[in-house]
Amino acid sequence: MSEDASVLFGREDIRRRIEELGRNITGDYAGRAPVLISVLKGGSVFLADLMRQIHLPLAIDYMSISRYGGAAESMGRVRIVKDLEVDIGGRDVLIVEDIVDTGLTLSYLITVLESRQPASVEVCALLDKSVRRITPLPIRYVGFDCPDVFVVGYGLDFQERYRNLPDILAVQDLSALAADPDLLVPYLRGAPRSVPASDTGREHHT
Ligand code: IMP
Ligand code: MG
Repeated sequence: MSEDASVLFGREDIRRRIEELGRNITGDYAGRAPVLISVLKGGSVFLADLMRQIHLPLAIDYMSISRYGGAAESMGRVRIVKDLEVDIGGRDVLIVEDIVDTGLTLSYLITVLESRQPASVEVCALLDKSVRRITPLPIRYVGFDCPDVFVVGYGLDFQERYRNLPDILAVQDLSALAADPDLLVPYLRGAPRSVPASDTGREHHT
C-alpha cells in the first residue's frame, strides 16, 4: 500500500518546537531589539508563528530574491528582487528561514547583510537538511533536522503549491508529483490519511 506523502512533522510538533525556539531566542536576546528577516515566500509562515513566541520589541522585514538557475549552478548567487526597508546598521539580525538545504543561498545572503554593518547576524531555520550542506554555515537555531526527502507544507512549496498545508509532508515519489503537480491536493482538504489521529501528538522520527 503506497501513499503519495506522509506527515513528517505534524502541526502539534511544529507548534511545540516553535514555543521552545521562541523561549531560547527571547532569553538570548534579552535587552535587545532584534530584526527578524524572512526570505519570501517560504519563511513567511514560520516567521508569523515564531515572532509571536518572542517576547521582545522586535522588528520584522522581508527580502525577496531570485536565483540564477538552481542553487548549486548559481553557487548561491541571487538577485535581490525586493530589499529590506529597515536599516540594519548596528542592529541584531536574525534570518528566519523555512529550510536550509545546500546552504548556498543563505551564505550568500549573509555576506550581503554583513556588508551593511549590523551588530550581529544569526540564522533560525525550521528545517535543517544537514546531509545536503555544501557550504559550512553556522545555524544558531534549528527546529528539526530534516532527512534528505522533498518536503512541502507550512510555507514550503512544490511549484507554488501546498504552502498552506498546516503539517510538513514528506513526498514519497517526487517524479510522480512532477508528472502531476496536483497529486497532493486531497491533503489540502484534510484527507484523513494526511493526519492520522494517532499521529498528531507523536514525537517525530528522523
Ligand atoms: P539552498 O540551501 O541554497 O540549497 O536553498 C534552500 C531553498 O531551497 C529553500 O529556501 C527552499 O526554497 C528550497 N528547498 C530546499 N529543499 C526543499 C524541499 O524539500 N521542499 C521545498 N523547498 C525546498
Ligand atoms: Mg525559501
